Amino acid sequence: MRRPETLSLQVPAALRQPVTSLEEAESLSQQLRRFNRPQLAWLIEQATPEAEAALRQAAGLLREHYYGRKVYLRGLIEFSNVCQNDCFYCGIRRSNPSVRRYRLSEAQILDCCRQGYALGYRTFVLQSGEDPAYPAPRLARLVTEIRRRYPAAALTLSVGELSAADYRLLRQAGADRYLLRHETADAGHYASLHPADQTLQRRLSCLRELRAAGFQVGSGFMVGTPGQTADCLAQDLLFLQELQPQMIGIGPFIPQHDTPLSQAEPGRLRQTLLMLSLLRLLFPKALLPATTAVGTLHPLGRELALSAGANVLMPNLSPQEYRKDYALYDNKICTGDEAAECRACLQKRVESAGFTIDTSRGDPVDWEETKL
Ligand code: SAM
Ligand code: FES
Repeated sequence: MRRPETLSLQVPAALRQPVTSLEEAESLSQQLRRFNRPQLAWLIEQATPEAEAALRQAAGLLREHYYGRKVYLRGLIEFSNVCQNDCFYCGIRRSNPSVRRYRLSEAQILDCCRQGYALGYRTFVLQSGEDPAYPAPRLARLVTEIRRRYPAAALTLSVGELSAADYRLLRQAGADRYLLRHETADAGHYASLHPADQTLQRRLSCLRELRAAGFQVGSGFMVGTPGQTADCLAQDLLFLQELQPQMIGIGPFIPQHDTPLSQAEPGRLRQTLLMLSLLRLLFPKALLPATTAVGTLHPLGRELALSAGANVLMPNLSPQEYRKDYALYDNKICTGDEAAECRACLQKRVESAGFTIDTSRGDPVDWEETKL
């Protein structure tokens, strides 16, 4: 990529030396927030090891300022792998006949919550494919019941694209948060990863509707999907600055053997960590998970992600017998462990990386609940 002419004036000097104080980190954060698309793309593509280290140090200082060395836990319940969508990258897409489909009943989901609550989790994330057998009214009844049983816990949904009325219903029922990654903010790239009936436009309107319904909104993208350029990633950062989500989930793309993208290269660890540091600098108060995908790419991927700026982990609470069937990508980690084993393993990993687990709900530092 050609070096943008104005950039030499704007590349922060801080990127050429260690960042050692909060003031320096804040100043870098402010400068990055003024970067335009070619400048961000240039930085993503050309960052030297020194610049990456400076970004990581600055990200660490900002995370520490707002959240200390705390890592929040979210108990993830993958309650159905039935999906009516057909994303080219995803192992549970509807065109994959090799998936053993499952759907947990309300009683099974409530049992996962019971176990998770006993293990100290104060956020449950209910995630699934886009499963027509779990329409919004059915989900809303389940949300109400979980809130009744566990009023101290936050509830996050991640069930895909619904109507604005459905989102309002789920929010009224008591769901606090909603995760819907935008996947990529580049319309051409989005079209290359999805069939024609799944559009970026629809995805973005869902995100706006989630915000209007009063959810804490999580968005995000994969790093290293086939055909993704540094310019695509720059667009992701600019789009997120417009949306200002409370949570941003990113992870490397990892191929799944039964999908059209089975032969593609996985995303790179180094680029994923760089994007995490940039996100912490651009969104100092955001909740950023160290995802299972980054842990799948590298044995210490989640610890490295925490050091790059992440502050959330999402251990799996799904019943063990179904874990392997929620195979979005190959070699997914933590599919063999019981919920209690996952909890103990994460505690060790978090502490070995110099962080501490926080068992509160883990809301964003500046979150003010809107009245329902
Ligand atoms: N159906 C809901 C939705 O679409 O938001 C939630 C489940 S969806 C499978 C969760 C996320 O998994 C997607 O947003 C996508 O970013 C990620 N994912 C799917 N396939 C992946 C792959 N091959 N590698 C890495 N991440 C993947
Ligand atoms: Fe299910 Fe993409 S394949 S949401």
